[in-house]
Amino acid sequence: MVHVAVFGYGTVGSGVVEVIERNNSYVSANSGDKVSVKYILDLREFPGDPYESKLVHDVETIINDDEVSICCETMGGVGAAYKFTKMALEKGKSVCSSNKELVAKHGAELMRIARENGCAYLFEASVGGGIPVLRTLTTALTAERITKIAGILNGTTNFILTRMEEDGADFDETLRKAQELGYAEKDPTADIEGHDTARKISILSDIMSGHFTDSDAVKTTGITGITATDITLAKEAGFSIRLLGIADRSEDDSVAAFVAPFLVKKGHPLAGVCDVFNAIYVTGNMLGETMYYGKGAGKLATASAVVADVIDAARKGSSTMYQGWDETPVKATPADDLEFKYYVRCPEEKFDDVQAQFPGGCRIGKFGGESGFITETLSGAEFEARLAKLGDAVLNSIRVYE
Ligand code: HSE
Repeated sequence: MVHVAVFGYGTVGSGVVEVIERNNSYVSANSGDKVSVKYILDLREFPGDPYESKLVHDVETIINDDEVSICCETMGGVGAAYKFTKMALEKGKSVCSSNKELVAKHGAELMRIARENGCAYLFEASVGGGIPVLRTLTTALTAERITKIAGILNGTTNFILTRMEEDGADFDETLRKAQELGYAEKDPTADIEGHDTARKISILSDIMSGHFTDSDAVKTTGITGITATDITLAKEAGFSIRLLGIADRSEDDSVAAFVAPFLVKKGHPLAGVCDVFNAIYVTGNMLGETMYYGKGAGKLATASAVVADVIDAARKGSSTMYQGWDETPVKATPADDLEFKYYVRCPEEKFDDVQAQFPGGCRIGKFGGESGFITETLSGAEFEARLAKLGDAVLNSIRVYE
């Protein structure tokens, strides 16, 4: 019997219990032994819950029970989750996590502790929810030198941008709708300001480079500055706006990791990723481009990825470890060194000034007394320098993804 404990009985934690129970014949057959949830750790009471008898409030009960070999950490945050994960790993219990914040901050250390204690720290669910992208990068793509990863990694912002484009609504109205539908949190800051995407692209960069990428140092621009006019001008010129996490690796193995909205040409696979779906577009030096697509959030999709890690840990123990990354920082390149074309929006009467600053660019459309313009290809530093000369003539600017 494989005895499992679940840390945190929220949305994902309750999903983990549900996947293990409802799919038990598959989960157990694929694990090579019967899998059973022995404990659920949560501070709260759940009167009447079918699994109420498994509820415990003290982590020590789990840590000191030698029968428990695998813990699922679905608490979130870097406080108690970090402490409990370390305690479990130090006792030789594998930990399967959906906690992107913890993985982004302490993943390398936790994988090292797992290695030292003959168990595994696994976290497929931390990036792209149910999309099996980390396992793909660390198994199927190991013959590749990965040179670039571009991901739509946040369902909330992708839903907002898609609805703004489809419904012609503005940002605030669409955010409210996302909240009503339960797609956006009451406090949506981490999603709309891009921090959630920054954590996920950091983890992808860690795996690509083999070194630690500090998510706090990832230059991050969210979607709050995007207006209905930007969406309309982009749409009429054949683009969708998407929030992308980018990790771009140079020949010398330095990585530029950043988060920003982009104009993506319709017809590119990333432009076709709509609503709460996620996609990760990976470029390898031999294989070329591949894309991994699916539900990037949600109770059962995310829980399915956690339980796949449970099965992996049950079957292979410590040998299941992802290749991982070490604790030394990656050589980071500023995002501004990369070259892009830029969309700029300006009042109609300032158009000639914009054209004069970007002589290689062209107008893409007009709407409501404003013009949309796409510049020639420029480094971020060069673009900013020219933008500064235009003062308040430019109302917004967004990179173009090519
Ligand atoms: N808030 C996240 C999203 C949930 O919207 O994608 C999954 O990490």
